[in-house]
Amino acid sequence: MAEQHVGQIRKVAIIGAGLMGHGLAQIFAGKGKEVILMDLNEDLLKKGLAGIRSNLSLMAEHGIGKAQEIDGVLSRVRTTTDLGEAAREAQFVVEAVSENLDLKQKIFRDLDALCQPDAVLATNTSVISITEIASKAKGKARIVGTHFWNPPYLIPLVEVIRGNETSNRTMDLTLDLMKAIGKHPVRVNKDVPGFVGNRLQHALWREAISIVERGIADAATVDECIRFGFGLRLPILGPLENADMVGTDLTLAIHSYILQHLESSPAPSPMLKRKVEQGELGFKSGRGFQEWPPEKAQESRKRLLEYLLDVNKRF
Ligand SMILES: NC(=O)c1ccc[n+]([C@@H]2O[C@H](COP(=O)([O-])OP(=O)(O)OC[C@H]3O[C@@H](n4cnc5c(N)ncnc54)[C@H](O)[C@@H]3O)[C@@H](O)[C@H]2O)c1
Repeated sequence: MAEQHVGQIRKVAIIGAGLMGHGLAQIFAGKGKEVILMDLNEDLLKKGLAGIRSNLSLMAEHGIGKAQEIDGVLSRVRTTTDLGEAAREAQFVVEAVSENLDLKQKIFRDLDALCQPDAVLATNTSVISITEIASKAKGKARIVGTHFWNPPYLIPLVEVIRGNETSNRTMDLTLDLMKAIGKHPVRVNKDVPGFVGNRLQHALWREAISIVERGIADAATVDECIRFGFGLRLPILGPLENADMVGTDLTLAIHSYILQHLESSPAPSPMLKRKVEQGELGFKSGRGFQEWPPEKAQESRKRLLEYLLDVNKRF
């Protein structure tokens, strides 16, 4: 039943054309869907379209897709500043507006009233509860989380998150659609803060910051321990397969000794707070955990993008 439905989804609306929204429009249009991209004004929409062109050109330069196909992809992306127009014909909607609960609640209440009754409505929130976002809408069963990762056209994972009232049909259809557009969806059964990916990511960041704060190693060294050490295994071996590989008995022995020594603070690190108060904001101010002159920051961004492009050639 879900398979039959997914084949029928041809029209997709993306609400918000910012960093994530324009990338989402690109993914769906790249897979032949008719996309309508909505934002508050024409300039933002033009910027979104220019972003899609630039992403696709960069990908084509790296052998992913063809330069001759770019105009075809863009021809499938219409734009509007009217939520009603975006909603009217859409069979699947992804909301990617700013991370603000009130705004998202209002958009879902409006989308629920404006969309066709069988359309699925997804939010790309990074951390906000799907259940809370859906709370002002009547049709809560059709509201679901689809957490894409930045840049969404290069990172395969999409966490498909069940809100307290999301129906099985909505979950199955969304998972099938994510597969159909070439993503790697995973099912998240409970609507908890951080879902799965960000809980794991920030558990690691908390310990990384704590190691620097306690003077055990400096920031560059902490990152090196990951990049040149166990980080090399992570793309093919997650921690739970790794625990099975070394044995749950060894994992228990290690945890019995080490867990008591790890950071467990429920609040952000005092050093992190101090840095923000002092304007040490990272790349954007030239200093964070490390010094970031503009060339070094640019080099880091370039290294990441080229790595992701290279990895994508293998998918
Ligand atoms: N940036 C990331 O790395 C990342 C990763 C995963 C998820 N997300 C989530 O995706 C969502 C979007 O993030 P982003 O980084 O693209 O933000 P962004 O600020 O780049 O884009 C948000 C866009 O929403 C538009 N917008 C605001 N109010 C609107 C309205 N009423 N109607 C239509 N458009 C409206 C803004 O004009 C802007 O263009 C957020 O929920 C964010 O938490 C972001």
